[in-house]
Amino acid sequence: MCSIIGYKGNEHASSVLVEGLRKMEYRGYDSVGIATIKSGKLLIRKGVGKVAEVNKSLRLDELPGNLGIGHTRWATHGGIVDSNAHPHLACKSTIAVVHNGIIENYNELKNELCRSGHEFKSETDSEVIAHLLEEYFEITGDIRLSMIFTCKRLQGSFAFVAMFNSSTLCGARYDEPLIIGVGNDDYFLSSDILGFLNYTDRAIFLDNRDIVILNDNDISFFNFDGDRVSRRMTQVAWELGDADKGKYSHFTLKEIHEQRYTIVKSMQQDKKNLEKFCDILTGGKNIYITGSGTSYHSALLAKQIFSKSKIHVETIMSSEFQYSSDMLDENSVLLAISQSGETADVIQSVKSAKTMGAKVISIVNIPTSSLARLSDSYLEVKCGPEIGVAATKSFTSQIALLYYVADIIGRKSNGILSSKDILVKAVIQVLELDSQIEGIADQLKHSKDVYILGRSLHFPICLEGALKIKELSYIHAEGMAAGELKHGPLALIDTNSIVIVLHPDDSTYGDTLSNIHTIKSRGAKIVGISNKKDALYDYQITIPTINESLYPLIEVIPLQLLAYHLSICNNGNPDYPRNLAKSVTVK
Ligand code: G6P
Repeated sequence: MCSIIGYKGNEHASSVLVEGLRKMEYRGYDSVGIATIKSGKLLIRKGVGKVAEVNKSLRLDELPGNLGIGHTRWATHGGIVDSNAHPHLACKSTIAVVHNGIIENYNELKNELCRSGHEFKSETDSEVIAHLLEEYFEITGDIRLSMIFTCKRLQGSFAFVAMFNSSTLCGARYDEPLIIGVGNDDYFLSSDILGFLNYTDRAIFLDNRDIVILNDNDISFFNFDGDRVSRRMTQVAWELGDADKGKYSHFTLKEIHEQRYTIVKSMQQDKKNLEKFCDILTGGKNIYITGSGTSYHSALLAKQIFSKSKIHVETIMSSEFQYSSDMLDENSVLLAISQSGETADVIQSVKSAKTMGAKVISIVNIPTSSLARLSDSYLEVKCGPEIGVAATKSFTSQIALLYYVADIIGRKSNGILSSKDILVKAVIQVLELDSQIEGIADQLKHSKDVYILGRSLHFPICLEGALKIKELSYIHAEGMAAGELKHGPLALIDTNSIVIVLHPDDSTYGDTLSNIHTIKSRGAKIVGISNKKDALYDYQITIPTINESLYPLIEVIPLQLLAYHLSICNNGNPDYPRNLAKSVTVK
């Protein structure tokens, strides 16, 4: 959830660190801090706010030195105040630490360290790491041993980078990502390759329970037992770093508009990979699909897409997986869907599925992610970096790929391949509705509650549309199966209600029309998203006519645009909504 970065080389460290943090801000952005070393002295600046704001007020990038560490925070333990921002120093100010994850036993460790005389300056769990390192360094006088002893004491999940005033940079990881960027004369330690991709495309991915130590002329790797290990260097794709807003005012808007290219790109798969993925999928007696947030909505839609192709699957929300994983065995296949490939709930689900003997396949956007590396086979959605915290283009790419896979393995086709050109045209037509939707958002911006109704394949899109509105505009929104309205929620409908109806002229049309009449007679305002004009709607968003099974791919786009414009109308920041982070690596 937080981003961490370390740098050791010939460059001005603080500028490199600030730039890296800016690129990784999607991981968490409530406070930021930097520490460097100059002439054996640790210098530190940190504060509350986004990287650009804090850098403007504290001039983080002016700290001198060629060695440093940095952090952006997404608060879990302790309020959003300067003292809780990282880096954290140990008592003697000779060790500084940045951490991502949660130290579950921090209270016990803190009490123990306080009893030995350590004084804490923050309410965070992370600060214990700095003090533990200091404690063990005093006893052993050896950085490697201090790292090993410290890591062994920590419970929970962590990736941390520690800087010692002897100009040594160290890192360790357990269930959180930590990647080393290898430049010509410099090294980076980062949560994400985006942190260093401007400088180098050579990377070393640390394994779980790895420790790395960077001295003046040496890089060495150990595991938590102190054994030396060797790690391979890989080359990562430069295009993963291509994250720039272009002509758009926000990444979110840019990413929504990119769907004109990204949806079909997800179907360009390597034949061998695809075969392997499909073989594992069809080899399973029981197929389960899991994901979180938007990716869970893809899973819900996948269930319907697969069932239309006569393949039965079950969905399990990743955060609930541990309570139903007993169902899985060696005859099961778990398909995990995740844009980031780092979501803790998803990773945990995959790990428990593996212990039950199940095969794991995944759909990811980041091929170097933990999820991809844990899977027996994976497919990439290839939609490019998604920086906006709320998922948009990754969602449509996931579902296009799921249609594609269902058509390859299923007995009945959804027709995605034969409709590719029509689909692209339809997406472009929907994107052209941007300014009309901006106008509707302006009319709806003061709404307190929004309901989104649809049936069958449209129901997961209702859930996804409601999630987008909640995330971006902070307006309460609920997605519902239209037929469920009469079983309770109708009690909420009055003249202040806004009801968005996904109502294309397909097999769901007639039944949903009856629901619209019921709502209309209670005085609610109706926004109809449909390819058929109807005077019943107070606002109509007209989408093109396409193959009935493929509507989800285009009807989610007006909802994404509406959520984006509602955010702008309500002075939100759609790229970085409050309290949220893009990559949720805590449970
Ligand atoms: C976070 C984000 C959501 C996203 C979810 C799953 O909660 O705020 O927008 O849908 O994580 O992310 P994943 O990377 O696993 O698809």
